[in-house]
Amino acid sequence: MRLLAIETSCDETSAAVICDGAVLSNIVSSQIKLHAEYGGVVPELASREHLRNLLPVIRAALSEANLCNEQIDAVAATQGPGLPAALMVGFKAAQSFAFALRRPFFGINHHEAHLYSPWIADQPLRADFAAFQPNISLIVSGGHTMLVHVEGELKHRVLGGTIDDAAGECFDKIAKLIGLPYPGGPELDKLTTGGNPRAFAFPRPLLHEANDDFSFSGLKTSVRYFLRDHPHLLDDEQSLRDLCASTQAAIVEVLVTKTIRAAKRLGVGCVTASGGVTCNSGLRTELAAACAKNRFTLRLAEKNLCTDNAAMIGILAERKLLAGHAPLRSDAEINVSWALA
Ligand code: KG4
Ligand code: ZN
Repeated sequence: MRLLAIETSCDETSAAVICDGAVLSNIVSSQIKLHAEYGGVVPELASREHLRNLLPVIRAALSEANLCNEQIDAVAATQGPGLPAALMVGFKAAQSFAFALRRPFFGINHHEAHLYSPWIADQPLRADFAAFQPNISLIVSGGHTMLVHVEGELKHRVLGGTIDDAAGECFDKIAKLIGLPYPGGPELDKLTTGGNPRAFAFPRPLLHEANDDFSFSGLKTSVRYFLRDHPHLLDDEQSLRDLCASTQAAIVEVLVTKTIRAAKRLGVGCVTASGGVTCNSGLRTELAAACAKNRFTLRLAEKNLCTDNAAMIGILAERKLLAGHAPLRSDAEINVSWALA
């Protein structure tokens, strides 16, 4: 069975072809450079860029998989959540493709797909469901931060999420205060090299609260006031590195501590993580150390699958199809605020 998947919920235009758990192709066209001068994703520009890029991206995905349109057996696309006009481009294109070829069409929740990206690994990429086990999944990106209890395949329950800023947003806003270009998370991460994570004590919001929620806006504000009171700090290379290492340590400690605590409480033996912030060096190292200490299996999404991609949409859609889930009706619409339950 060959499935074509499309993802356009935010600023990546992506198409993938999946066949029996194997990723035959996964083309991702990122719009980061386009949005950089505005310091964030501009929805109108994002949807226009998806319109421009989608057909070439689909053609490239089919060509890399050595397939023509008629050889596709099923189609899937991100149905929500996401930017309305961005979602619309990929969803309607996929729906039309499926309708024209009379193929089943599946609408996928973007966050549910993130839960399965850590299970896609190896070269060539394929989903390793033989190794699947119940887990606590951390989804951390520029738009979302949530903890999910994945009780089994296609069975999950959201435990908590951010009550204000997402972790990636916090990284980006602090990076902006320091004067780093958008998106600043990866730049801030690079500057932590040689920095002392204990040089400055920033708050660890909600660390000791008995819930699975996060809050990062207070941390950003505390860095803002700290820089207002110590403006000279940015002129010194070592102090700058110490500042980056200290802010990263605060964000990472909250993410790791709450993830491990949830895994212990719910008695699962496995932790997974995905979303752009899962590329963060500190998060990868600290999660690995904490999981080793607690004897949890750790599955981090491959770095190129941490950010948004159609492979994870396709892998989940194929699982749903095999599990007998019904395809969407041909008049289905996007679901912009489709919260994961
Ligand atoms: O998943 P993603 O590509 O897009 C969405 O937000 O949906 O995640 C992008 C976010 C940005 O906030 C970016 O700064 C952050 O992930 N990010 C990082 C790193 N790489 C990406 N944050 C910290 N350290 C990194 N190495
Ligand atoms: Zn995402």
